[in-house]
Amino acid sequence: MTSLPSATARPGVIGSLVGQKAVMAVTGVILFLFVVGHLLGNLKIFEGPQAFNAYAEGLRTVGAPFFGRGWLLWIARIVLIVAVLAHIWAAIETTRASWRARPVGYRRLEAVETTYAARTMRWGGVLIALYVIYHLLDLTFGRVNPSFVPGDVYHNVVASLRVWVVAAAYIAAMVVLGLHLYHGTWSALQTLGLNRPPTGRWRAPPRRPRGRSPRPSPGRAR
Ligand code: HEM
Repeated sequence: MTSLPSATARPGVIGSLVGQKAVMAVTGVILFLFVVGHLLGNLKIFEGPQAFNAYAEGLRTVGAPFFGRGWLLWIARIVLIVAVLAHIWAAIETTRASWRARPVGYRRLEAVETTYAARTMRWGGVLIALYVIYHLLDLTFGRVNPSFVPGDVYHNVVASLRVWVVAAAYIAAMVVLGLHLYHGTWSALQTLGLNRPPTGRWRAPPRRPRGRSPRPSPGRAR
């Protein structure tokens, strides 16, 4: 029996471009859900130090007495770490595939059927990764926090955001994250075949250069 030479061997599902897009979409949805949950939890800060610190402590004791202290938190952390690594891997692989498909850049590239958010996905992802590293050093490990007090999460957030440069960097990171999620969520729905009414109509149609007739958008009910 003869075996196929490796050069002609077909990639597995995960190794194919469709598989990589699916990995990016599924992990993107997991990370999106984390960001929404984290945002909702962080709103507790407006209830004051006691409520916010109790919430942070609750994240460590959730699941008791069946689970030990921090067990569920660590399970969530492991899921997040795996999702982040897989998301970055898929982003690198799809970027390399797109560069391989077009090794020579366009002499003139006209932005048709695209948005600013779509065009900044790669750099946005890099900036968000840098932000998360800083954020962990700031509020989880306390390495770059001006006066980190273990267990006093409210104090740590206030101490950090009192420094105007840090506050400005956080605000800028939230704008970048907003753009990334705006295009990323739509793109994930598209990959997973869910970009249709009612979700499809939530996204504004891309801007076209003047004089071009609009093409019907697949997500819009007609
Ligand atoms: C202004 C916005 C944000 C605030 C005020 C904030 C606040 C916090 C705080 C207080 C903690 C420590 C929680 C604790 O020790 O119990 C934390 C952890 C964390 N934050 Fe944020 N966060 C913000 C935005 C984000 C964003 C946008 C992301 C992701 C893109 C993110 C990802 C994380 C991660 C991964 C952790 C570590 C969770 C853990 O392992 O315990 N945060 N954040």
